[in-house]
Amino acid sequence: MYDERILAEKAHEAMKNSYCKYSGFSVGAALLCADGTIYSGCNVENASYGAANCAERTAIFKAVSEGHRKFTAIAICGGKDIDNTIECPPCGICRQVMNEFCDSSFEIILPVFKEGSIAGVSKHTLADMLPYAFDL
Ligand code: THU
Repeated sequence: MYDERILAEKAHEAMKNSYCKYSGFSVGAALLCADGTIYSGCNVENASYGAANCAERTAIFKAVSEGHRKFTAIAICGGKDIDNTIECPPCGICRQVMNEFCDSSFEIILPVFKEGSIAGVSKHTLADMLPYAFDL
């Protein structure tokens, strides 16, 4: 078992590094590896909008590039106001990237912060979020 509040707080913390000059929408993610290591990530935008990278993929690619390939859960947190976030489900591309490395029981934790504190959390599996997934 793991503490989903710790993961949620780390995702929230990662929002502070978001480079979201164009959308003003900060996203942070915290990825729990099977060995207990946690990698965080934020969205990184670009003047060529399509070159933006989502927070979830930043965290996953950081972890994979450091030799991790087994993941247990990810917390994702986003919004225009870091103290008052909104539920931020992962985009379709990030779900597909999760599917590359995670099994269908991988947990996706979606906290909402109000006045800087966790006000609620919803929890989903990758199977719920990416049914009938493409794979090779
Ligand atoms: N974004 C993420 O970081 N993760 C998602 O799953 C959805 C969208 C970012 C991309 C862009 O920088 C901003 O949120 C607005 O779309």
